[in-house]
Amino acid sequence: MKIAIVGSGYVGITTGTCLAKLGHDVCCLDLNRERITMLQKGVLPIYEPGLDIALNEMIGSGRMHFSADTAEAVQGAHAVFIAVGTPSGADGSIDLSQVFAAGRSIAPHLMAGTVVVMKSTVVAGTAQSMREIIARERGAFDVRVASNPEFLREGSAIKDFMEPDRIVLGADDPYSMKVLRKIYAPFVKEQAPIVETRTINAELIKYAANAFLALKIGFINEVADLCENSGGDVSDVARGIGLDTRIGAAFLQPGPGYGGSCFPKDTRAFASTGREYGARQHLVEALISRNDERKKHLAQRIIREGSLNAGQRVAVLGLAFKANTDDVREAASLSIIPHLQERGLEVAAHDPKALQTASEHLAGVSLHEDAYDCCRGADAVVILTEWEEYRALDLRRLRGLMVGDHLFDYRNLLEPSAASEAGLRLVSLGRVSAA
Ligand code: UGA
Repeated sequence: MKIAIVGSGYVGITTGTCLAKLGHDVCCLDLNRERITMLQKGVLPIYEPGLDIALNEMIGSGRMHFSADTAEAVQGAHAVFIAVGTPSGADGSIDLSQVFAAGRSIAPHLMAGTVVVMKSTVVAGTAQSMREIIARERGAFDVRVASNPEFLREGSAIKDFMEPDRIVLGADDPYSMKVLRKIYAPFVKEQAPIVETRTINAELIKYAANAFLALKIGFINEVADLCENSGGDVSDVARGIGLDTRIGAAFLQPGPGYGGSCFPKDTRAFASTGREYGARQHLVEALISRNDERKKHLAQRIIREGSLNAGQRVAVLGLAFKANTDDVREAASLSIIPHLQERGLEVAAHDPKALQTASEHLAGVSLHEDAYDCCRGADAVVILTEWEEYRALDLRRLRGLMVGDHLFDYRNLLEPSAASEAGLRLVSLGRVSAA
Protein backbone atom coordinates (compact mmCIF):
# COMPACT_ATOMS: atom_id res chain seq x y z
CA MET A 1 0.00 0.00 0.00
CA LYS A 2 1.03 3.59 -0.45
CA ILE A 3 1.33 5.36 2.89
CA ALA A 4 2.15 8.98 3.71
CA ILE A 5 3.31 10.03 7.17
CA VAL A 6 2.85 13.63 8.22
CA GLY A 7 5.57 14.58 10.71
CA SER A 8 9.10 13.18 10.50
CA GLY A 9 9.91 13.23 14.19
CA TYR A 10 10.64 10.29 16.42
CA VAL A 11 7.27 8.56 15.96
CA GLY A 12 6.94 9.42 12.26
CA ILE A 13 10.35 8.12 11.23
CA THR A 14 10.13 4.96 13.33
CA THR A 15 6.60 4.17 12.15
CA GLY A 16 7.51 4.95 8.53
CA THR A 17 10.62 2.77 8.60
CA CYS A 18 8.74 -0.15 10.17
CA LEU A 19 5.80 0.16 7.74
CA ALA A 20 8.35 0.04 4.89
CA LYS A 21 9.80 -3.09 6.53
CA LEU A 22 6.30 -4.59 6.34
CA GLY A 23 6.44 -4.02 2.57
CA HIS A 24 4.55 -0.75 2.17
CA ASP A 25 5.63 2.17 0.04
CA VAL A 26 6.14 5.02 2.51
CA CYS A 27 6.68 8.74 2.13
CA CYS A 28 7.51 10.74 5.29
CA LEU A 29 6.61 14.39 5.14
CA ASP A 30 7.98 17.27 7.14
CA LEU A 31 7.79 21.01 6.61
CA ASN A 32 11.40 21.34 7.78
CA ARG A 33 13.27 21.05 4.46
CA GLU A 34 16.65 20.73 6.12
CA ARG A 35 15.41 17.70 8.07
CA ILE A 36 14.03 16.14 4.89
CA THR A 37 17.33 16.67 3.02
CA MET A 38 19.20 14.94 5.86
CA LEU A 39 16.71 12.07 6.00
CA GLN A 40 16.96 11.58 2.23
CA LYS A 41 20.67 11.00 2.82
CA GLY A 42 19.82 8.50 5.56
CA VAL A 43 20.89 10.81 8.41
CA LEU A 44 18.66 10.71 11.50
CA PRO A 45 17.87 13.78 13.62
CA ILE A 46 17.50 11.57 16.72
CA TYR A 47 19.30 8.66 18.35
CA GLU A 48 17.44 5.36 18.44
CA PRO A 49 19.29 2.04 18.53
CA GLY A 50 19.06 0.21 15.18
CA LEU A 51 16.96 2.87 13.49
CA ASP A 52 19.74 4.27 11.30
CA ILE A 53 20.52 0.82 9.88
CA ALA A 54 16.84 0.01 9.28
CA LEU A 55 16.19 3.41 7.74
CA ASN A 56 19.11 3.11 5.31
CA GLU A 57 18.04 -0.41 4.39
CA MET A 58 14.55 0.84 3.59
CA ILE A 59 15.88 3.81 1.59
CA GLY A 60 18.02 1.29 -0.33
CA SER A 61 14.97 -0.92 -0.96
CA GLY A 62 13.24 2.00 -2.69
CA ARG A 63 10.23 1.77 -0.34
CA MET A 64 11.12 4.75 1.86
CA HIS A 65 10.93 8.32 0.62
CA PHE A 66 10.93 11.77 2.17
CA SER A 67 9.33 14.96 1.01
CA ALA A 68 8.67 18.52 2.16
CA ASP A 69 5.82 18.81 -0.33
CA THR A 70 2.38 17.87 1.08
CA ALA A 71 0.76 17.30 -2.32
CA GLU A 72 3.59 15.03 -3.49
CA ALA A 73 3.51 12.93 -0.29
CA VAL A 74 -0.26 12.64 0.11
CA GLN A 75 -1.57 12.28 -3.44
CA GLY A 76 -2.45 8.69 -4.24
CA ALA A 77 -1.86 7.48 -0.66
CA HIS A 78 -4.20 4.78 0.67
CA ALA A 79 -3.53 5.97 4.20
CA VAL A 80 -2.08 9.14 5.69
CA PHE A 81 -0.67 8.79 9.19
CA ILE A 82 -0.62 11.88 11.38
CA ALA A 83 2.50 11.80 13.55
CA VAL A 84 3.05 15.44 14.45
CA GLY A 85 3.83 16.78 17.93
CA THR A 86 1.21 17.19 20.66
CA PRO A 87 2.90 19.41 23.26
CA SER A 88 1.44 20.20 26.66
CA GLY A 89 -0.87 23.18 26.48
CA ALA A 90 -2.44 25.29 29.24
CA ASP A 91 -3.65 23.47 32.41
CA GLY A 92 -1.94 20.27 31.32
CA SER A 93 -4.31 19.77 28.40
CA ILE A 94 -2.57 18.96 25.12
CA ASP A 95 -2.10 21.42 22.33
CA LEU A 96 -3.62 19.87 19.21
CA SER A 97 -2.86 22.77 16.90
CA GLN A 98 -0.22 20.86 14.93
CA VAL A 99 -2.57 17.90 14.51
CA PHE A 100 -5.40 20.03 13.18
CA ALA A 101 -3.04 22.09 10.99
CA ALA A 102 -1.85 18.79 9.49
CA GLY A 103 -5.50 17.84 8.84
CA ARG A 104 -6.15 21.12 7.05
CA SER A 105 -2.97 20.83 4.98
CA ILE A 106 -3.63 17.28 3.75
CA ALA A 107 -7.38 17.77 3.15
CA PRO A 108 -7.15 19.12 -0.42
CA HIS A 109 -4.93 16.20 -1.51
CA LEU A 110 -6.90 13.25 -0.12
CA MET A 111 -8.42 10.90 -2.67
CA ALA A 112 -11.75 9.16 -2.17
CA GLY A 113 -11.06 6.26 0.18
CA THR A 114 -7.86 7.60 1.73
CA VAL A 115 -7.92 6.84 5.44
CA VAL A 116 -6.38 9.42 7.77
CA VAL A 117 -4.81 7.51 10.66
CA MET A 118 -4.16 9.30 13.95
CA LYS A 119 -0.80 8.08 15.27
CA SER A 120 0.02 11.08 17.48
CA THR A 121 -1.12 10.68 21.07
CA VAL A 122 -4.39 12.58 21.25
CA VAL A 123 -7.24 12.99 23.71
CA ALA A 124 -10.60 11.23 23.44
CA GLY A 125 -12.69 12.64 20.62
CA THR A 126 -9.83 13.95 18.46
CA ALA A 127 -10.52 11.58 15.53
CA GLN A 128 -14.05 12.95 15.42
CA SER A 129 -12.79 16.58 15.54
CA MET A 130 -10.34 15.75 12.75
CA ARG A 131 -13.20 14.37 10.65
CA GLU A 132 -15.07 17.65 11.09
CA ILE A 133 -12.02 19.75 10.22
CA ILE A 134 -11.33 17.83 7.01
CA ALA A 135 -15.03 17.87 6.09
CA ARG A 136 -15.02 21.66 6.47
CA GLU A 137 -12.13 21.88 3.98
CA ARG A 138 -13.52 19.32 1.53
CA GLY A 139 -17.30 19.86 1.68
CA ALA A 140 -19.27 16.73 0.80
CA PHE A 141 -16.15 14.54 0.63
CA ASP A 142 -16.42 11.15 2.39
CA VAL A 143 -13.87 11.63 5.17
CA ARG A 144 -12.39 8.61 6.91
CA VAL A 145 -10.39 9.04 10.09
CA ALA A 146 -9.06 6.11 12.12
CA SER A 147 -6.95 5.81 15.24
CA ASN A 148 -3.90 3.62 15.65
CA PRO A 149 -1.99 4.68 18.77
CA GLU A 150 1.68 3.84 19.11
CA PHE A 151 3.17 2.00 22.06
CA LEU A 152 6.83 2.52 21.20
CA ARG A 153 9.40 3.01 23.90
CA GLU A 154 12.39 5.15 23.10
CA GLY A 155 15.41 2.88 23.01
CA SER A 156 13.49 -0.19 21.80
CA ALA A 157 11.09 1.35 19.32
CA ILE A 158 11.78 -0.98 16.37
CA LYS A 159 11.37 -4.10 18.47
CA ASP A 160 8.20 -2.66 20.04
CA PHE A 161 6.77 -2.09 16.56
CA MET A 162 7.85 -5.40 15.03
CA GLU A 163 7.03 -7.55 18.10
CA PRO A 164 4.07 -5.75 19.63
CA ASP A 165 2.29 -6.79 22.84
CA ARG A 166 -0.81 -5.68 20.99
CA ILE A 167 -1.94 -3.52 18.09
CA VAL A 168 -4.91 -1.22 18.60
CA LEU A 169 -6.99 -0.50 15.52
CA GLY A 170 -9.66 2.15 16.02
CA ALA A 171 -12.21 2.78 13.26
CA ASP A 172 -15.81 3.93 13.14
CA ASP A 173 -16.67 2.41 9.74
CA PRO A 174 -15.99 -1.01 8.19
CA TYR A 175 -13.98 0.36 5.26
CA SER A 176 -11.44 2.17 7.51
CA MET A 177 -11.07 -0.98 9.62
CA LYS A 178 -10.41 -2.99 6.46
CA VAL A 179 -7.63 -0.58 5.45
CA LEU A 180 -6.08 -0.75 8.93
CA ARG A 181 -6.14 -4.55 8.80
CA LYS A 182 -4.46 -4.46 5.40
CA ILE A 183 -1.71 -2.17 6.69
CA TYR A 184 -1.01 -4.60 9.53
CA ALA A 185 -1.65 -7.71 7.38
CA PRO A 186 1.54 -9.57 8.42
CA PHE A 187 0.51 -9.24 12.10
CA VAL A 188 -3.09 -10.23 11.31
CA LYS A 189 -1.73 -13.29 9.52
CA GLU A 190 0.45 -14.40 12.42
CA GLN A 191 -2.45 -13.77 14.82
CA ALA A 192 -0.72 -11.12 16.91
CA PRO A 193 -3.04 -9.69 19.59
CA ILE A 194 -5.11 -7.06 17.82
CA VAL A 195 -7.77 -4.94 19.50
CA GLU A 196 -10.33 -3.74 16.99
CA THR A 197 -12.48 -1.00 18.42
CA ARG A 198 -13.98 2.46 17.89
CA THR A 199 -11.67 5.47 17.59
CA ILE A 200 -12.71 6.89 20.98
CA ASN A 201 -11.67 3.67 22.70
CA ALA A 202 -8.36 3.57 20.84
CA GLU A 203 -7.67 7.11 22.04
CA LEU A 204 -8.58 6.23 25.62
CA ILE A 205 -6.50 3.03 25.54
CA LYS A 206 -3.34 4.97 24.76
CA TYR A 207 -3.75 7.36 27.68
CA ALA A 208 -5.00 4.76 30.11
CA ALA A 209 -2.01 2.53 29.28
CA ASN A 210 0.54 5.26 29.88
CA ALA A 211 -1.24 6.49 33.01
CA PHE A 212 -1.34 2.97 34.42
CA LEU A 213 2.36 2.35 33.72
CA ALA A 214 3.22 5.70 35.31
CA LEU A 215 1.11 4.74 38.35
CA LYS A 216 3.10 1.53 38.68
CA ILE A 217 6.32 3.56 38.78
CA GLY A 218 4.87 6.06 41.26
CA PHE A 219 3.68 3.18 43.42
CA ILE A 220 7.02 1.37 43.55
CA ASN A 221 8.79 4.66 44.27
CA GLU A 222 6.64 5.12 47.38
CA VAL A 223 7.11 1.46 48.34
CA ALA A 224 10.87 2.06 48.00
CA ASP A 225 10.62 4.91 50.51
CA LEU A 226 8.76 2.65 52.90
CA CYS A 227 11.32 -0.15 52.45
CA GLU A 228 14.11 2.25 53.20
CA ASN A 229 12.54 3.59 56.38
CA SER A 230 11.48 0.18 57.63
CA GLY A 231 14.72 -1.67 56.82
CA GLY A 232 13.35 -3.59 53.80
CA ASP A 233 14.74 -4.07 50.31
CA VAL A 234 12.64 -2.89 47.38
CA SER A 235 14.25 -5.27 44.86
CA ASP A 236 12.97 -8.29 46.78
CA VAL A 237 9.59 -6.66 47.35
CA ALA A 238 9.26 -5.74 43.65
CA ARG A 239 10.21 -9.27 42.62
CA GLY A 240 7.82 -10.75 45.13
CA ILE A 241 4.87 -8.74 43.93
CA GLY A 242 5.85 -8.76 40.23
CA LEU A 243 5.73 -12.56 40.00
CA ASP A 244 1.99 -12.33 40.51
CA THR A 245 0.89 -12.41 36.88
CA ARG A 246 -1.94 -10.01 37.72
CA ILE A 247 0.71 -7.43 38.67
CA GLY A 248 3.62 -8.27 36.36
CA ALA A 249 7.31 -7.61 36.89
CA ALA A 250 7.77 -4.70 34.46
CA PHE A 251 7.86 -1.06 35.54
CA LEU A 252 8.59 -1.79 39.16
CA GLN A 253 12.06 -0.30 39.14
CA PRO A 254 12.36 2.63 41.57
CA GLY A 255 14.08 5.73 40.26
CA PRO A 256 14.23 9.51 40.43
CA GLY A 257 10.67 9.88 39.09
CA TYR A 258 9.45 9.15 35.57
CA GLY A 259 10.32 11.57 32.78
CA GLY A 260 10.44 11.68 29.00
CA SER A 261 8.21 13.12 26.33
CA CYS A 262 5.27 10.83 27.13
CA PHE A 263 4.44 9.98 30.74
CA PRO A 264 4.59 13.50 32.21
CA LYS A 265 2.63 15.00 29.30
CA ASP A 266 0.17 12.12 28.95
CA THR A 267 -0.65 11.91 32.65
CA ARG A 268 -1.33 15.66 32.68
CA ALA A 269 -3.53 15.35 29.59
CA PHE A 270 -5.36 12.34 31.06
CA ALA A 271 -6.08 14.26 34.26
CA SER A 272 -7.20 17.26 32.26
CA THR A 273 -9.53 15.10 30.11
CA GLY A 274 -10.97 13.63 33.30
CA ARG A 275 -11.76 17.12 34.59
CA GLU A 276 -13.24 18.10 31.23
CA TYR A 277 -15.63 15.14 31.18
CA GLY A 278 -16.52 15.35 34.88
CA ALA A 279 -14.73 12.10 35.72
CA ARG A 280 -11.72 13.26 37.71
CA GLN A 281 -8.73 10.98 37.66
CA HIS A 282 -7.81 11.47 41.31
CA LEU A 283 -5.13 8.78 41.37
CA VAL A 284 -3.36 10.23 38.36
CA GLU A 285 -3.65 13.77 39.71
CA ALA A 286 -1.96 12.66 42.93
CA LEU A 287 0.69 10.81 40.95
CA ILE A 288 1.61 13.90 38.95
CA SER A 289 2.35 16.00 42.00
CA ARG A 290 4.10 13.12 43.82
CA ASN A 291 6.38 12.59 40.81
CA ASP A 292 7.35 16.28 40.66
CA GLU A 293 7.93 16.37 44.42
CA ARG A 294 10.09 13.26 44.24
CA LYS A 295 12.62 14.97 41.98
CA LYS A 296 12.83 17.94 44.35
CA HIS A 297 13.06 15.69 47.40
CA LEU A 298 15.87 13.61 45.89
CA ALA A 299 17.81 16.78 45.05
CA GLN A 300 17.47 17.96 48.66
CA ARG A 301 18.62 14.56 49.84
CA ILE A 302 21.92 14.93 47.98
CA ILE A 303 22.62 18.19 49.79
CA ARG A 304 21.46 16.95 53.19
CA GLU A 305 23.01 13.49 53.28
CA GLY A 306 26.12 14.57 51.42
CA SER A 307 26.49 17.50 53.92
CA LEU A 308 27.22 19.72 50.94
CA ASN A 309 27.78 23.46 51.10
CA ALA A 310 27.79 26.17 48.46
CA GLY A 311 30.88 26.02 46.27
CA GLN A 312 31.26 22.25 46.53
CA ARG A 313 31.07 20.08 43.45
CA VAL A 314 28.54 17.43 42.46
CA ALA A 315 29.15 15.10 39.50
CA VAL A 316 25.97 13.93 37.79
CA LEU A 317 26.16 10.73 35.76
CA GLY A 318 23.27 10.49 33.32
CA LEU A 319 21.27 13.32 31.81
CA ALA A 320 18.89 11.40 29.50
CA PHE A 321 15.45 10.57 30.95
CA LYS A 322 16.36 6.89 30.63
CA ALA A 323 19.12 4.80 29.08
CA ASN A 324 19.60 4.26 25.33
CA THR A 325 18.27 7.62 24.26
CA ASP A 326 19.63 11.15 23.84
CA ASP A 327 16.27 12.57 24.93
CA VAL A 328 16.32 14.79 28.02
CA ARG A 329 12.71 15.96 27.95
CA GLU A 330 11.37 16.13 31.52
CA ALA A 331 14.41 14.13 32.65
CA ALA A 332 15.13 14.03 36.37
CA SER A 333 18.48 15.73 35.59
CA LEU A 334 16.69 18.87 34.41
CA SER A 335 14.94 19.25 37.79
CA ILE A 336 17.71 18.03 40.07
CA ILE A 337 20.65 19.94 38.56
CA PRO A 338 19.03 23.44 38.71
CA HIS A 339 18.01 22.70 42.30
CA LEU A 340 21.64 21.93 43.22
CA GLN A 341 22.81 25.05 41.40
CA GLU A 342 20.28 27.21 43.24
CA ARG A 343 21.93 26.06 46.46
CA GLY A 344 25.28 27.29 45.17
CA LEU A 345 26.73 23.92 44.22
CA GLU A 346 28.91 23.46 41.16
CA VAL A 347 27.72 20.73 38.83
CA ALA A 348 29.67 18.61 36.37
CA ALA A 349 27.78 16.13 34.21
CA HIS A 350 28.33 13.19 31.90
CA ASP A 351 26.06 11.26 29.57
CA PRO A 352 27.09 8.83 26.81
CA LYS A 353 24.53 10.21 24.32
CA ALA A 354 22.69 13.23 25.67
CA LEU A 355 25.41 15.86 26.21
CA GLN A 356 24.41 17.80 23.12
CA THR A 357 20.66 17.75 23.79
CA ALA A 358 21.18 18.53 27.48
CA SER A 359 23.45 21.49 26.72
CA GLU A 360 20.44 23.28 25.24
CA HIS A 361 18.61 23.07 28.60
CA LEU A 362 21.35 23.43 31.20
CA ALA A 363 23.39 26.53 31.95
CA GLY A 364 26.58 26.67 33.98
CA VAL A 365 27.17 22.91 34.02
CA SER A 366 30.55 21.58 32.91
CA LEU A 367 29.84 18.74 30.51
CA HIS A 368 32.25 15.81 30.18
CA GLU A 369 32.68 13.13 27.53
CA ASP A 370 34.20 10.77 30.06
CA ALA A 371 32.50 9.65 33.26
CA TYR A 372 35.73 9.50 35.30
CA ASP A 373 36.80 12.99 34.18
CA CYS A 374 33.40 14.21 35.27
CA CYS A 375 33.90 12.79 38.77
CA ARG A 376 37.40 14.22 39.28
CA GLY A 377 37.36 16.47 42.36
CA ALA A 378 33.67 15.77 43.10
CA ASP A 379 32.38 16.03 46.65
CA ALA A 380 29.50 13.73 45.69
CA VAL A 381 28.49 11.68 42.66
CA VAL A 382 24.87 11.13 41.60
CA ILE A 383 23.67 8.52 39.10
CA LEU A 384 20.43 9.58 37.39
CA THR A 385 20.25 7.37 34.29
CA GLU A 386 20.60 3.59 34.13
CA TRP A 387 23.29 3.46 31.42
CA GLU A 388 25.12 0.11 31.38
CA GLU A 389 28.50 1.84 31.57
CA TYR A 390 27.64 3.18 35.04
CA ARG A 391 26.84 -0.32 36.24
CA ALA A 392 30.37 -1.29 35.18
CA LEU A 393 32.13 1.67 36.83
CA ASP A 394 35.47 0.91 38.47
CA LEU A 395 34.45 2.11 41.92
CA ARG A 396 37.96 2.16 43.39
CA ARG A 397 39.14 4.34 40.54
CA LEU A 398 36.11 6.57 41.01
CA ARG A 399 36.73 6.95 44.73
CA GLY A 400 40.37 7.80 44.03
CA LEU A 401 39.30 10.69 41.80
CA MET A 402 36.69 12.08 44.20
CA VAL A 403 37.24 14.46 47.08
CA GLY A 404 34.15 13.33 49.01
CA ASP A 405 32.84 9.78 49.39
CA HIS A 406 29.07 10.00 48.80
CA LEU A 407 27.60 8.20 45.82
CA PHE A 408 23.87 8.64 45.27
CA ASP A 409 22.75 5.75 43.08
CA TYR A 410 19.23 6.82 42.13
CA ARG A 411 18.86 3.88 39.71
CA ASN A 412 20.09 1.13 42.04
CA LEU A 413 22.78 0.03 39.59
CA LEU A 414 25.53 -0.72 42.08
CA GLU A 415 26.07 -3.43 44.67
CA PRO A 416 26.21 -1.90 48.17
CA SER A 417 29.04 -4.28 49.18
CA ALA A 418 31.18 -3.30 46.14
CA ALA A 419 30.65 0.38 46.93
CA SER A 420 31.63 0.05 50.57
CA GLU A 421 34.70 -2.05 49.66
CA ALA A 422 35.75 0.83 47.42
CA GLY A 423 35.38 3.24 50.35
CA LEU A 424 32.20 4.86 49.05
CA ARG A 425 29.14 5.79 51.07
CA LEU A 426 26.35 4.54 48.86
CA VAL A 427 22.86 5.99 49.00
CA SER A 428 20.49 3.93 46.88
CA LEU A 429 16.71 3.74 46.75
CA GLY A 430 14.54 1.42 48.79
CA ARG A 431 17.21 -0.39 50.73
CA VAL A 432 19.45 0.41 53.63
CA SER A 433 22.73 0.90 51.83
CA ALA A 434 25.08 3.32 53.55
CA ALA A 435 28.19 1.64 54.91
C1 UGA B 1 6.45 5.30 27.14
C2 UGA B 1 5.72 3.94 27.13
O1 UGA B 1 6.48 2.96 27.83
C3 UGA B 1 5.48 3.47 25.69
O2 UGA B 1 4.71 2.27 25.71
C4 UGA B 1 4.69 4.56 24.95
O3 UGA B 1 4.48 4.21 23.60
C5 UGA B 1 5.48 5.85 24.99
O4 UGA B 1 5.69 6.23 26.37
C6 UGA B 1 4.67 6.90 24.28
O5 UGA B 1 3.61 7.28 24.79
O6 UGA B 1 5.02 7.27 23.14
P1 UGA B 1 9.01 6.06 26.89
O7 UGA B 1 8.54 7.43 27.24
O8 UGA B 1 9.94 5.88 25.74
O9 UGA B 1 7.74 5.10 26.58
O10 UGA B 1 9.77 5.51 28.16
P2 UGA B 1 9.57 4.38 29.27
O11 UGA B 1 10.51 3.29 29.01
O12 UGA B 1 8.16 4.04 29.45
O13 UGA B 1 10.08 5.19 30.56
C7 UGA B 1 9.40 6.35 31.01
C8 UGA B 1 10.02 6.84 32.30
O14 UGA B 1 9.73 5.96 33.38
C9 UGA B 1 11.54 6.98 32.28
O15 UGA B 1 11.91 8.16 32.94
C10 UGA B 1 12.02 5.75 33.02
O16 UGA B 1 13.28 5.92 33.62
C11 UGA B 1 10.93 5.62 34.06
N1 UGA B 1 10.80 4.23 34.60
C12 UGA B 1 10.39 3.22 33.79
C13 UGA B 1 11.07 4.01 35.95
O17 UGA B 1 11.45 4.92 36.71
N2 UGA B 1 10.92 2.73 36.44
C14 UGA B 1 10.50 1.71 35.65
O18 UGA B 1 10.38 0.58 36.17
C15 UGA B 1 10.25 1.94 34.30
